[in-house]
Amino acid sequence: MDKIIIKGGQPLKGEVKISGAKNAALPILFSSLLTDGLNEYTNVPVLQDIESTKTLLTSLGAKIQSEKNRVQIDAKGLNNYEASYDLVRKMRASILVLGPLVARLKKAKVSLPGGCAIGARPINLHLKGLAKLGARIELKDGFVEASTRGLKGAIIDFDLKTVTGTENLMMAASLAKGITILNNAAQEPEIIALADVLNKMGAQITGAGTHKIRIEGVPCLNPTLVKIIPDRIEAGTFIAAAALTRGNILIKNCEPDHLTAVIEKLKQTGTKIIVKDKTILVQGSEHIGSVDLKTMPYPGFPTDMQAQFMTLMTIANGVSMITETIFENRFIHVSELRRLGADITISGNNAMVKGVKNLSGAPVMATDLRASASLVLAGLVAGGITEVRRIYHLDRGYDRLEAKFARLGADIKRVRE
Ligand code: EPU
Repeated sequence: MDKIIIKGGQPLKGEVKISGAKNAALPILFSSLLTDGLNEYTNVPVLQDIESTKTLLTSLGAKIQSEKNRVQIDAKGLNNYEASYDLVRKMRASILVLGPLVARLKKAKVSLPGGCAIGARPINLHLKGLAKLGARIELKDGFVEASTRGLKGAIIDFDLKTVTGTENLMMAASLAKGITILNNAAQEPEIIALADVLNKMGAQITGAGTHKIRIEGVPCLNPTLVKIIPDRIEAGTFIAAAALTRGNILIKNCEPDHLTAVIEKLKQTGTKIIVKDKTILVQGSEHIGSVDLKTMPYPGFPTDMQAQFMTLMTIANGVSMITETIFENRFIHVSELRRLGADITISGNNAMVKGVKNLSGAPVMATDLRASASLVLAGLVAGGITEVRRIYHLDRGYDRLEAKFARLGADIKRVRE
């Protein structure tokens, strides 16, 4: 198992290029199941979750070729409708096979993902939506079994905003008969990216990016060529890192429009941020101001940036109240940050962070993807040595994060334990 060793204290300086977005790439790769020709995807990030997706798609009969950031998928040979427990437990986003499989093969058997470190994360809304489209859903022996004689368009009112739920139903409804309306749909840029891809394949989707999406089903979809959008959470992580280390970095190949809430919040801390075209220049301030934060569905501040922002607040001047509204257990980084000297008190879904002068290095353990990122950030600014263990969580969703930090001047390396 690898670990990351960081000697903190170097301000980050230089330029960094943002990779393709994990959470856009995953549903888009799964959308290849909706057609039986050769799809090609570029700007695909190099991540463990992408590898897990490829393994799952291959197990279903898809043929895949990939080289660096280019992935070709042909699902002509799709012949298996079962996603096994072993594959699904490695990556919750595997549930995104459900919509495409039911739409294309009229049946699916997908292991229930179960909870994960950040919360229970049920999939009831995916299932309720599919049932409305005419799928028979049964839960048996830890699997969801779905079957249909043919999906039919319907009006689906989501009880709450769900990103992968919206994506699953958008994919399923694309091949359903008639019109589907998704009310209270998630509005993330990754939803728009998936709708764009499906439309390029011949789907009839309007309204993606708003809370109401209209999908007119078509009999079949065609293969396509797609470039994955930049990862807004990776970009946000670098913004936070520059602010934290009082660095000066130019973030390239990003989409600043997807980061409005993050940029606004970071500016409130005193960080200087200049947006120009597809770049963001970040200049950290000596005086980091304390700011309160509440996570919200897009366009609000993303839960996937909460842990990184909390790390910044650990060394801010004053007290910050951080409220997590999306997941019930997304403060798992707190106990590890405390080991580095952070002063954080949790009460329900609120974390009160009292800024301290300095963090000091220690061995810490990564517990989920964004928590890992927050610990690496803390290590960049802590005095002495920080060792971040169990970084397979980090590798699930960041494309060579430590190499990118090293190029910005950080004293950071990956070693085998
Ligand atoms: N929820 C339900 N029932 C459902 C679906 C969701 O109660 O059927 C609840 C969840 O438990 C949660 C809330 O709704 O409390 C929002 O969950 P959502 O479904 O939107 O999350 P997700 O689709 O499982 C995606 C990202 C996450 C990101 C969340 C929120 C992907 C592959 N994953 O998850 O990304 O945190 O949206 O923005 O797109 C990450 O990248 O680190 C990550 C966890």
